[in-house]
Amino acid sequence: MILIDGKKIAAELREELRHEVVELKAKHNKVPGLTVILIGDMAPSQIYVRNKEKSANEVGLKSEVIRYPEAVEEKTVLDKIEELNKDERVSGILVQLPLPKHIDKQKVIETILPSKDVDGFHPMNVGNLSSGYESSVPCTPLGCYLMIKKIEPNLSGKKAVMIGRSNLNGKPMAQLLLKENCTVTITHSKTKDLKAECLEADIIVAAVGIPELVKADWVKKDAIVIDVGINKTENGIVGDVAFEEVSKVAKALTPVPGGVGPMTIACLLKNTIECFKRSLK
Ligand code: GUN
Repeated sequence: MILIDGKKIAAELREELRHEVVELKAKHNKVPGLTVILIGDMAPSQIYVRNKEKSANEVGLKSEVIRYPEAVEEKTVLDKIEELNKDERVSGILVQLPLPKHIDKQKVIETILPSKDVDGFHPMNVGNLSSGYESSVPCTPLGCYLMIKKIEPNLSGKKAVMIGRSNLNGKPMAQLLLKENCTVTITHSKTKDLKAECLEADIIVAAVGIPELVKADWVKKDAIVIDVGINKTENGIVGDVAFEEVSKVAKALTPVPGGVGPMTIACLLKNTIECFKRSLK
């Protein structure tokens, strides 16, 4: 079994990006800038944002975090986004989710200029991805995709099963694999026989938030299994895949932690650099 070392692949990607930033700086005398907006003091969001900032600095990006208290008015946030949209030093804007209930998530997402939308959540980017045009691609599925391609460069004709249909992962992941000529199935909580669907799959991407849902007898021998889940349990953090038993049947499997997580952040940096490069055109 191949343990897909997301930490290592992400470190390699960051090193490539760091070189690219040096070249861009030499050529254009400026570096890509990433601004993250963080609202409230939810612990997981704080940790994610700190990691994003650290990685951005490591790669040589200009990184800024704007923090607001939980009770901030929606208008304050929208006005700040408008300001960042106009600021040419800012290549990418990310508003950390989830947001407090009184703030309209979709309104926030749609206020970010599509050309600075490093999350790929703006309807314009969602549409462009599904139509096969150039777009920002959400960081988590992009990271999963790059890991899958490392294991299997030619995905044409493979059967891929997404577990979960979220805008963050399942749906954009399906689009990326469809572009690679996979036959894609998106499953969800109303799917009749999830195990049977998984047993057909050459590639499984699990992103539902159910601890150790995917068992060894759900997985075809030699399947590639990507675990997007991060679930807190009595036994610590576990993914959506029963790691021990699935590792005995799968061809390749991502660990949790150390799989998808580091790749997501590296892809955010990649997206920021892509936004910067498109802004030069
Ligand atoms: N919260 C958890 N994952 C994400 C992500 O990919 N983007 C944003 N903006 N917030 C998140």
